[in-house]
Amino acid sequence: MLRPLRRIARRVMERTGLIGPYYRWLERRSARAVGEAVDDGRPMPPAELVVLVSGPSLRWFSERGRDDAAMFRALAARHGADVAAGLDVLDFGCGAGRIARWLAPEVIAAGGTFTGSDLNPRLAGWCAANLPGTYRANGLKPPLGNAANSLDMIYAHSVLTHLTEPTAQAWLAEIARVLRPGGLALMTFHDEAYAQAWAPEDVAARLAGEGYVVWNNALEGSNYISAWTTRARLADMAAPGFEVAEIIPGRNDAPAQAIAVLRARPEV
Ligand SMILES: C[S@@+](CC[C@H](N)C(=O)[O-])C[C@H]1O[C@@H](n2cnc3c(N)ncnc32)[C@H](O)[C@@H]1O
Repeated sequence: MLRPLRRIARRVMERTGLIGPYYRWLERRSARAVGEAVDDGRPMPPAELVVLVSGPSLRWFSERGRDDAAMFRALAARHGADVAAGLDVLDFGCGAGRIARWLAPEVIAAGGTFTGSDLNPRLAGWCAANLPGTYRANGLKPPLGNAANSLDMIYAHSVLTHLTEPTAQAWLAEIARVLRPGGLALMTFHDEAYAQAWAPEDVAARLAGEGYVVWNNALEGSNYISAWTTRARLADMAAPGFEVAEIIPGRNDAPAQAIAVLRARPEV
């Protein structure tokens, strides 16, 4: 009974433009519940920024950020890119620096460069003021501020998950443009395995037939909208600019998104 009512209320808010203010209200409410302060030796963003990129837990933000940084570091190494060897790295959709807090110091200490870019200027601004590296805001659609063929590695954690298919396709092309030939893109996404356990409503069932499903198609780029992609569709979308080196399925026993490891094709 409640579910259809909620769905109608959501549609009304989307159509009237009230969904944005409602969503901001939810974020402010979450920010009041982030739990005790955490000192992990790195600058910690304020609660109102933490809740824009993760659940309402400073501990989760700290620990999962460190774990996700380790995961990207290990995955890149497995594909021949050592972040401690002076690489030029971009965190696309860097949010409040959850992962950059751990990786940027390491990349820069090794003689590389570290850039972060995010749709939300408040998030990019906090990173610029508090973390090593260069951080900028970008638009919902390309371009990035980086030059063509200027980067060795780009990672994006839970960014494709908030984009419609045409926008995601445009970003894959842009990421291929700024990577050097052979450079790596490591991008997480919601695949069919992850959808089995974590997708809302009928998304998992629709995904098999549709390949790309957008849920709550409003406020693109925010956490409100979520996008779901089969691994095969993601590989097709990446094909013009990349060879698919590996796609690690998401998990249905723990909330771990799928990860695509893409290698930029040489220019033709
Ligand atoms: C779920 S958060 C993840 C943030 C960060 N990657 C992390 O793992 O903590 C999604 C992030 O993607 C950003 N984002 C969404 N659309 C974007 C776009 N078109 N370009 C750049 N960033 C985008 C949002 O502003 C937000 O910071």
